Amino acid sequence: MTTVTRAPERAFLDNDALMLRAQDVSKRFTLHTQGGTSITALSDVSLDVERGECVVLAGPSGAGKSTFLRCLYGNYLATDGMIAIRDDSRAERHVQITGAEPHDVIALRRSAVGYVSQFLRVIPRVPTLALVAEPLISRGVDENEASERASALLARLNVPQRLWPLAPATFSGGEQQRVNIARGLIAGHPLLLLDEPTASLDAQNRDIVAELITEARRRGAAIVGIFHDEATRESVATRRLELSAPAASLIH
Ligand SMILES: Nc1ncnc2c1ncn2[C@@H]1O[C@H](COP(=O)(O)OP(=O)(O)O)[C@@H](O)[C@H]1O
Ligand SMILES: [Mg+2]
Repeated sequence: MTTVTRAPERAFLDNDALMLRAQDVSKRFTLHTQGGTSITALSDVSLDVERGECVVLAGPSGAGKSTFLRCLYGNYLATDGMIAIRDDSRAERHVQITGAEPHDVIALRRSAVGYVSQFLRVIPRVPTLALVAEPLISRGVDENEASERASALLARLNVPQRLWPLAPATFSGGEQQRVNIARGLIAGHPLLLLDEPTASLDAQNRDIVAELITEARRRGAAIVGIFHDEATRESVATRRLELSAPAASLIH
């Protein structure tokens, strides 16, 4: 696997509003257990995102939307291309996630990037309130204040108070998803990556999440999101990026 580690252009660092630059990002998977078949999930995708923008990734199932988001978060290493994310807490003011060391990726997630996936990765036996307060505490907020802010956000998301002392393992899909959203949004990260955060929610809670996303954007967050329903896309998007499955997505 080759990874191109071009330095981000000066224009990226010089433009304070730019939070994210992805250039010509491609991702191929090699299925070692299936005769080494190679799947191109993403081909030459480029995207700049500024503070205060919400870019919605659109396109059919299998177009590579989740793969792109995972590349931006550093869960998948892009096969080709360059991804830079601004982080004002660092001397270099950015991390090039393509080619970054794991500890730099971890530090970047703490200070700059929030990610909400469709499913909560349940942490056994950690009470909901502590789970939601944790990203604030890890950024240095005092425990009482973190707990108050977590309570307010859980209440806003209609997670019943009787559930707050319990671990979310036994919660319904929609309850788990709201805990996941609270955990992803609470720390006010300047870049948010959202992968179908409203897929298991009823219309009322979906609207609340759309409001929270718009509030984060108005505070200056840069957001890249995937939403399964058109109403949410309409309400949160300032721009769309259409992805289509690469023409030759199966290469033998
Ligand atoms: N970890 C993986 N290993 C192999 N193939 C994958 C992996 N993740 C995604 N893919 C493939 O990449 C393509 C794009 O998937 P995905 O990014 O999930 O699409 P979308 O989110 O747009 O529905 C699909 O063909 C999928 O099977
Ligand atoms: Mg997806």
